[in-house]
Amino acid sequence: MSLFAIGDLHLHFSSECRAPMQRTDPLWKNHTQKLRANCQRLLKEDDTLVLVGDHSWGKSLAQCAPDFDYIQSLPGKKVLLRGNHDRFWEVSKTERLNETFAGKLFFLQNNYYPYGDYALVGSMGFSFEGPFYLNRKGQIVDWDREAEAEAERRISRELERLRISLEAARADGYHRLILFLHYPPTNILERRSAFTDLAEEYGVHQVVYAHTHGEARFHNSIEGSFRCIDYSLVSGDYLRWTPKRIL
Ligand SMILES: [Fe+2]
Repeated sequence: MSLFAIGDLHLHFSSECRAPMQRTDPLWKNHTQKLRANCQRLLKEDDTLVLVGDHSWGKSLAQCAPDFDYIQSLPGKKVLLRGNHDRFWEVSKTERLNETFAGKLFFLQNNYYPYGDYALVGSMGFSFEGPFYLNRKGQIVDWDREAEAEAERRISRELERLRISLEAARADGYHRLILFLHYPPTNILERRSAFTDLAEEYGVHQVVYAHTHGEARFHNSIEGSFRCIDYSLVSGDYLRWTPKRIL
């Protein structure tokens, strides 16, 4: 039994692809075929695949239906995290999603997913992504303070959601925790953040995140071991559509 993760599939079997990069970058060519082949090679039916947000460009469940069919056709159990583009998913309706897709897909939000001795916990997270103001050398010299204040509001809401999930896992006796975030745990200006602090407070073993795709953004946050916790970026294009083994 193994645990794998990958994020940012941005499927659009029956919706409009809204990212020009996805249409022109060679890394994205035939990405669904590449991912399917890699999943079939690596995953067995008793494995679990966590999809770390931005599943579909569809704006509604109906528009996402063929994308969910594709996800369900991949081997293993599938756990989905909410990404910033997942417009089909309102947080308050997560329970309804879990009822609708019971036995097929699990939606990770304000709950946890048991994986052996581990609890998988997750939420979208957030990190302030600017606008940043650069000098002539391309160095960041300032940033938008209003956008920063809005980011802080979103971050505190996400922290609350994560605490609910972490406490639920703990209350059920889980002490081994893996934390999934769609956004990176830090932005390019930070060395640590409220999310890295939360991971340390709860003794999380690993933090897995996505969202940064495109070569220029692959190394915007923490990768590898930081203060005794392992951090992994699992954006699909970064992984060349090969799910990363987490456990
Ligand atoms: Fe994203």
